[in-house]
Amino acid sequence: MRQYLYISTASGLDDDAVAAILEACEHNNKQRNVTGLLLYNGRNFMQLLEGEAADLFHVMRKIGSDTRHTGVSRLADIAIEERVCPDWLMRHVKLAEDVDQRRSSLEQELPDGLDEKIRELILNFAALN
Ligand SMILES: Cc1cc2nc3c(=O)[nH]c(=O)nc-3n(C[C@H](O)[C@H](O)[C@H](O)COP(=O)(O)O)c2cc1C
Repeated sequence: MRQYLYISTASGLDDDAVAAILEACEHNNKQRNVTGLLLYNGRNFMQLLEGEAADLFHVMRKIGSDTRHTGVSRLADIAIEERVCPDWLMRHVKLAEDVDQRRSSLEQELPDGLDEKIRELILNFAALN
């Protein structure tokens, strides 16, 4: 199995637009047995996806050609023994309003067992505004 982390840009999507993305995730990721996390700071997405390589490839191809965001850039692609988000088809991790508190509140939300480098990349995303 693999874990894939990327960032992308999509300025000013409202809650409904993010909810529509999550709806597609629920449906399609169930079929492909893909799980993960989605973060959105009003400007950028960060998404962690995990699953079998072929399933991730399929889902990433769709995500990469989605016109709702641009500049999809891979940050990590690693082999994993087991999932860290087995119960989340796609969990929307909400960032705290206050940028100064984002990192500490995100630390509590992230699952145990996350690769240290990936954890650090996700926590750094919280510092952007
Ligand atoms: C930031 C972002 C994250 C997305 N994440 C997923 C995802 O995890 N799984 C998925 O199937 N589609 C995801 N999508 C939606 C896909 O790009 C695409 O719209 C969807 O898979 C198309 O589904 P369909 O072929 O059933 O119409 C995401 C889109 C965006 C903009």
